[in-house]
Amino acid sequence: MTNFSSLDLKGPVGKPLVRVSGREKVTGTATFTAEWPMENVLHVVAVPATIPHGTVRNIDTSEAAKMAGVRLVITPENVPKFTRVPSGSETNFSTSVASSLFPAAEKEVFHAGQYLAGVVAESFTAARDAALQVKIDYETKSHVTDIDKAPADERPEKLMGAPPVITIGDAEQALQESEVVIDSDYPLIGNHHNPIEPHAAIAHWTTKNDKPFLTVYETSQSLSVAQASYAKVFGIDPKQVRVICKYVGGAFGSKGLMWPHALLACFAAKLTGQPCKCVVTRSQMYGGTGHRTPIRQRVAIGANKQGKIQSIIHDGYASTAIKDTYTEAFTAATRMMYHTDHLRLDQKQCRLHTQMPTFMRAPAETPGMFALESAIDELAVKLNIDPIELRRRNEPERDIHANKPFSSRLLLQCLDAGAKRFGWSERKREPRSQRDGNWLIGQGVAAATYPYFTFPTKARVTVHADGRVKIDCCSQEIGTGTRTAQSQLLADILDIPASRVSMELGDTALPKGGISGGSATSASVGGALRDAAEKLKSRLIGLVPADSALSGAKVEEVRFENGNLVSSKGSIAIEDLLSDAMKDSVSVSGELKASKDSSVSKHSFGATFVEVAVDEEFGLIRMRRMLGCYACGTILNAKTGRSQFIGGMIMGIGHALQEATHWDHRLGRITNDNLAEYHVPVNADIPDIDIMWIDTADYDASPIGAKGIGEISITGVAAAVANAVHHATGKRIRSLPLTPEKVI
Ligand code: MOS
Repeated sequence: MTNFSSLDLKGPVGKPLVRVSGREKVTGTATFTAEWPMENVLHVVAVPATIPHGTVRNIDTSEAAKMAGVRLVITPENVPKFTRVPSGSETNFSTSVASSLFPAAEKEVFHAGQYLAGVVAESFTAARDAALQVKIDYETKSHVTDIDKAPADERPEKLMGAPPVITIGDAEQALQESEVVIDSDYPLIGNHHNPIEPHAAIAHWTTKNDKPFLTVYETSQSLSVAQASYAKVFGIDPKQVRVICKYVGGAFGSKGLMWPHALLACFAAKLTGQPCKCVVTRSQMYGGTGHRTPIRQRVAIGANKQGKIQSIIHDGYASTAIKDTYTEAFTAATRMMYHTDHLRLDQKQCRLHTQMPTFMRAPAETPGMFALESAIDELAVKLNIDPIELRRRNEPERDIHANKPFSSRLLLQCLDAGAKRFGWSERKREPRSQRDGNWLIGQGVAAATYPYFTFPTKARVTVHADGRVKIDCCSQEIGTGTRTAQSQLLADILDIPASRVSMELGDTALPKGGISGGSATSASVGGALRDAAEKLKSRLIGLVPADSALSGAKVEEVRFENGNLVSSKGSIAIEDLLSDAMKDSVSVSGELKASKDSSVSKHSFGATFVEVAVDEEFGLIRMRRMLGCYACGTILNAKTGRSQFIGGMIMGIGHALQEATHWDHRLGRITNDNLAEYHVPVNADIPDIDIMWIDTADYDASPIGAKGIGEISITGVAAAVANAVHHATGKRIRSLPLTPEKVI
């Protein structure tokens, strides 16, 4: 039995419609947060800690305060009153405050880059120059920023709804008794997000109905949670807060939580009574706005000679901050990827003097699947079995940890369809068997996966008498084309052209939306729209005149058809219905409620194929081609969907080959806090990328059949690349990124 009845989507859904935001972006008419036009805006520049651990003895603001254009220096001496709230990652997102260390409010330093003061000035340059003249006198204390030097003696409380230790059978014993064993470490360096628009906030305190009213323009993936958070921090009602973000400006998870710059802008606005803007510099993002934690992990797999897995062990530790806890559930995918009678997952964490780590595109799966899918490939090589065939032999009948059937699991179909198009069968299995001049050529494959979930979401649908339909929902435009995809979906449900539907988002004055993260937006907003469409039906039936054949019809007898309300007894145009009733428009509210425990295990699956060329003399790895095949339920828009898959794969190239946050552990500071030295893929690094999908609606998982596509395509890339490098060279590299010195 499916959880949701299926929708008859035969209209605009799936069509490659051009996103409405595309034209706005390329013509420069899209307004990003930092460029929101405001009168009398003041500029705030944070003064970050230059030491990783210690106590502030004194902040000398005398020089800075005298400088031209400077209004104010915010320090713990004059910071406005606020309420401390725990970090969002410890409260299941009842707040989005990232760090319990507040800006310009602390005397204790727990990481370099912590915002210890803020300068408010009439121009950005004046604020920046004065910030350099704020003199902080520290008493330094010992610090640890190196994951290999910190004791991993803590276990996180929960990992994505499960305990940190999961045991099925006796994995150690079964490993020892296995005929073939793989047991390897897969250490990962930390990464930093680099959205093109760095984080920014403009805050303004005014008065409304004799009460203080806070407006914040903020780069945020979760405006509704930000609104609740500001209310808690400043002790006001959420109705006294409005948060706006029309374009997130790129995020990859880094804008899921509210980082200290946004609170600093609020403090400055409170003290000055003027709008205050704080734009995080690129370098301040490294220490100010989260990162992907480094990880130390081991995967051990025992199998028999036929390639049947007997035991899987995945353990290790990630880091979190000294004062704030973020848990990276890197063992989560191993809970359900393959069948085994013996499983042991065990995650620990250590605390480092760094800013809190946070979500970065497919947190958990991206690092975890690198280890697991590398280990599966190692096992395939050791057994001399094709890696796709090995996965086939270990396909589980159900989710072995949750002990539930999958809502749908098309991993083998993705592997087979992808293999066919990629030409996998032409690959010679023997490593070092293919060459092109000086280049060794290799092909690798890895599975991809990402869980499905939704966030509670409300949406208002308004039908106008002229036939236009409007969606209002405080979701976010994170760069994926949400407005277009959701307009397509509603148009399809109402059976009208997509051009008649528009969507407004990015404003807490709209009905409450969920977080644009976790690949959850499509199904969350879509679920609310599906509910709204049902309510629209009954609302329109209520307008049917008594002499109409449709009068008194039940909701289930009526359907939308080509702009009409239709039953077996007759049909009536919605526009006529509204004009006859003398109405300019009707509005209904739809809602997707928090999902209850389900009888099925909900995940998307995919297959990643890559071909690399490796020059061993120089240690160079060049991507030659890539193919991703995904099964994520219904794809709402073929063009924006393909773009998201490609984007994830490109970010995967960065994860595999380039991205690395480097530290000087003596100073406890990051050494490559800029785009010149923190390498991300550019066009020259990116090969031909072929994307395909199995478009099978999953109504067991999702009210609209779609499971979300924003993150899955990064999850298999690093392992596929490492597996391809092994195939090319015979050399197994188990740590990322795969830089030249590891290849030589
Ligand atoms: Mo994504 S890391 O859930 O923004």
